[in-house]
Amino acid sequence: MKRTHHCNELRPAHIGQTVTLSGWVHSRRDLGGLIFIDIRDREGRTQTVFHPSDLPKELFECAASLRSECVISVTGKVRHRPEGTNNTKIATGEVEVGVTGLEVLNMAEVLPFPVDDPEVAAKVNEELRLQYRYLDLRRPEMARNLRLRSKVATATRVFLDEQGFLEVETPTLFKSTPEGAREFLVPSRIHPGQFYALPQSPQQFKQILMVAGVERYFQLARCYRDEDLRADRQPEFTQVDLEMSFIEREDIYALIEGMLKRVWKVALNIDIPTPFRRLSFAEALNRYGIDKPDTRIGMELADFTEEFRASTFKVFSGAIANGGVVKAINAKGLAGATQGQIETMTEYAKSFGAKGLAFIKVEKGEWKSPIVKFFNDAEKAALTQKLAIEEGDLMLFAADQWLTACEILGKIRLYCADVLKEQGKLTIPADQFNFLWVVDFPLLSFDKEQNRWYSSHHPFTAPVAEDIPFLTSDPKKVRGQHYDIVVNGVELGGGSIRIHQPDVQKTIFEQVLQIPPDMVKARFGYMLEAFRYGAPPHGGIALGFDRLIAILCGTLSIRDVIAFPKTAKGTDLMTDSPAPVEPKQLRDLHLELKVAKKEG
Ligand code: AMO
Ligand code: AMP
Repeated sequence: MKRTHHCNELRPAHIGQTVTLSGWVHSRRDLGGLIFIDIRDREGRTQTVFHPSDLPKELFECAASLRSECVISVTGKVRHRPEGTNNTKIATGEVEVGVTGLEVLNMAEVLPFPVDDPEVAAKVNEELRLQYRYLDLRRPEMARNLRLRSKVATATRVFLDEQGFLEVETPTLFKSTPEGAREFLVPSRIHPGQFYALPQSPQQFKQILMVAGVERYFQLARCYRDEDLRADRQPEFTQVDLEMSFIEREDIYALIEGMLKRVWKVALNIDIPTPFRRLSFAEALNRYGIDKPDTRIGMELADFTEEFRASTFKVFSGAIANGGVVKAINAKGLAGATQGQIETMTEYAKSFGAKGLAFIKVEKGEWKSPIVKFFNDAEKAALTQKLAIEEGDLMLFAADQWLTACEILGKIRLYCADVLKEQGKLTIPADQFNFLWVVDFPLLSFDKEQNRWYSSHHPFTAPVAEDIPFLTSDPKKVRGQHYDIVVNGVELGGGSIRIHQPDVQKTIFEQVLQIPPDMVKARFGYMLEAFRYGAPPHGGIALGFDRLIAILCGTLSIRDVIAFPKTAKGTDLMTDSPAPVEPKQLRDLHLELKVAKKEG
């Protein structure tokens, strides 16, 4: 029996037609002599009705024995549902199919968890969902996520094709370039003792494609990073990766704004306003305490360094005398926090390096805090004015070096926002998307332990032209031509204008990053050489595709938008990998294991 319709299609207009539907038994109800089976396929659900007089006895008995998730094909006539039994929740809710033929295509055992009830399914433990991922993916929410992902991938390809981009595949058996995250290595059988590495991104290939004259490249590229995993990180993930020649930063901003506008329209039918706001790295930290600010929540950081320079409160004036700053936020409406809650918050701040977390509660018109006694009227007036203090507010302070103070309050700001959300004092509409570009990052960061500078992003980022003279004399002053795209506090992507002059690239490697020349040659020689044969000025960006889809789907975890993700421990519970291999395979790869046998 070949299907004539999908399970979302039948309407009153089909009444009287004989149709065949194929799919899974979504639910079965036996009402005495009558059996109702909701049949479900990828597109939707239809109610079918089995009446003993309409079909042979053995088929009726067979229908009575069907379990949830058996695979069937049914044939019958479309008819109106009886008066008062319409189901407005489903598209086919006005009709039903009076079954005259049934074919069981496959039976199903009792499922480890139900897939038909969203409320029950939402409570199923994630490990079980991952182990039986094929069942998990039958759940409508997960099926919707996969669909949206496919739709967005297509929209992205169409958009970039319209813009003149070529989709080029780059190798996933690459070479080890141990500058960024830890890599996955692949031993070579043919070359004993030698290894490929899986690429962390197609960065070097895409730059070389610019030297090759491709001018506009893109790829939905699979990337591999052996890092500690979190909800927004997987060991293998997908980037919308692109690169362009003969362009400046503004060209990338305009391109990505256009692409995201298209994607939001296609996926959610939302018109997002462009151009996006821009914030410098310094301003992002000063005002939000983080380089990926969520601007949907207020609570901006205010600076009180000048006001407290001569304060009698030594915690503040002392930090300032040490070259630090005093910053504060107003957690509006949180004055009711208990001593215990403030202690928890203080411990949280300390886990990010805070020495303490001074606070003032404003209750019944009074400022309550052990430190208020140190403040004079001018200091209090400055706080009231800059933080717009009102009854019920809670001020929280960090006195430290600039970056530390900003980052601590940045974390506390997000923590307070979560508390306010829980208490119902802060609601963020689900369709609010605050996009922004963060620009003017420092090109280099200093590693105290190793006593050397390293690239804040990657070593191919071009310095801002006027800062080039400081590369060797005052590296901290050098801004990179890097940009991050941020939405609702998530770093969606990042990129930069690249260095295309071989001499500047060599200076960065050897003099700034202090990589010995022979190592530079071994690791990046081919790139420096390629740049000697006519490299056009170029730049690009990569968006985390999984993060993009997670945001569109309104989920916090990218595992919900990847068909077969890994657990936080990097395992695949369905296939049970990673797993040991046969000794012969190891011998072929010239490998010998030195792993202590696991106990038990
Ligand atoms: P970057 O390392 O910033 O840049 O990566 C770009 C984007 O990829 C996403 N991403 C991840 N998503 C899921 N799991 C991970 N483990 C993971 N790591 C990164 C993030 C991030 O913003 N080659 C450069 C881009 C360029 O310069 O053009 C690069 O890879 O959303
Ligand atoms: P103390 O004088 O150490 O008892 O601290 C008084 C208050 O200031 C306490 O609430 C501390 O948590 C807080 N505090 C201490 N050091 C800092 C700091 N560096 N920044 C902000 N608050 C601090």
